[in-house]
Amino acid sequence: MIYDNLSTGYRRLAQGFELVEGDIADEARLRPVLARVDAVMHFAAHAYVGESVENPRKYFRNNVLGSLSLLNSVLDTGIRRFVFSSSCAVYGIPEQIPITEQTSREPVNPYGASKLFFENALQGYARAYGLRSVRLRYFNAAGADESGEIGEIHDPETHLIPLALAASAHGTGLHIYGDDYPTADGTCVRDYIHVNDLADAHVRALQYLENGSHEKGGESLALNLGTGRGYSVLEIIQAAESATGRPVRRTPGVRRPGDPPVLVADPARAYRMLGWSAKYTLADIVSSAWMWMRKDRVRRAA
Ligand SMILES: NC(=O)c1ccc[n+]([C@@H]2O[C@H](COP(=O)([O-])OP(=O)(O)OC[C@H]3O[C@@H](n4cnc5c(N)ncnc54)[C@H](O)[C@@H]3O)[C@@H](O)[C@H]2O)c1
Repeated sequence: MIYDNLSTGYRRLAQGFELVEGDIADEARLRPVLARVDAVMHFAAHAYVGESVENPRKYFRNNVLGSLSLLNSVLDTGIRRFVFSSSCAVYGIPEQIPITEQTSREPVNPYGASKLFFENALQGYARAYGLRSVRLRYFNAAGADESGEIGEIHDPETHLIPLALAASAHGTGLHIYGDDYPTADGTCVRDYIHVNDLADAHVRALQYLENGSHEKGGESLALNLGTGRGYSVLEIIQAAESATGRPVRRTPGVRRPGDPPVLVADPARAYRMLGWSAKYTLADIVSSAWMWMRKDRVRRAA
């Protein structure tokens, strides 16, 4: 069952599932829904880093206040298993690469701070109330299901892969935020993880919580979800060009404040705890995103 206020979500992406339209902070609407489930995966959030700097109030209200309201409803309903979409943004500008779960968490924007706040709440609720949780710190989520039926839609789009594909398809320019970073080609390096790999990790996290449900004490486990391999902006552009067969016109620009040069996960703990590792390559990610964009354009035109 999906519960979503459709603020940035789309009804058509929930096809085949029961969708209840509502806000996580709306206890009266949420509680009867929670009464019908025995575990929660919490994806709902505002998720634009730049917007969080401009409008922190919006981010703390939804990602902290809204999430705490959800958490209290979960607790009161008697649910004790919880999976949370956290983010590598909790690490801020890390001192060491690859990033392990022990790397210090010092977010540099309100979005990352809101994710860290909720992680801390989950740890407190685990100790005090026995609410068991897995906090999944996604690196850069990307790609689409191979069916071409479900993929990402953001408005405005800020993610590099769909932007590079669109720039290639339409012949428009792609803005590059800084080409003077201390990396091999001067552009930022990120760890791109396919959404189906993320989905697999969520199922395993739930199984992990189920298998341990005999344990009396609460536990909150943090796991990095990335491939352990980074790609630069220019490498992503090349992958987009290979997928579409068309060039991307690059327009170099200045750095964005708060963008770390390199963010790459050490995903070893997720393997140890869940037996999880990423299966999809960068080529899989970019080709599936490209197929989704083409199919979605046809669907929208129909
Ligand atoms: N996309 C990434 O690269 C990435 C990386 C790290 C973490 N995350 C996290 O993963 C989650 C999903 O991200 P996404 O990129 O799919 O973003 P998204 O905006 O597509 O998804 C967020 C969903 O939550 C819903 N929502 C927001 N506030 C709500 C509320 N108050 N009540 C009910 N529903 C609400 C939206 O309608 C939307 O369907 C977020 O928590 C995000 O912070 C994403």
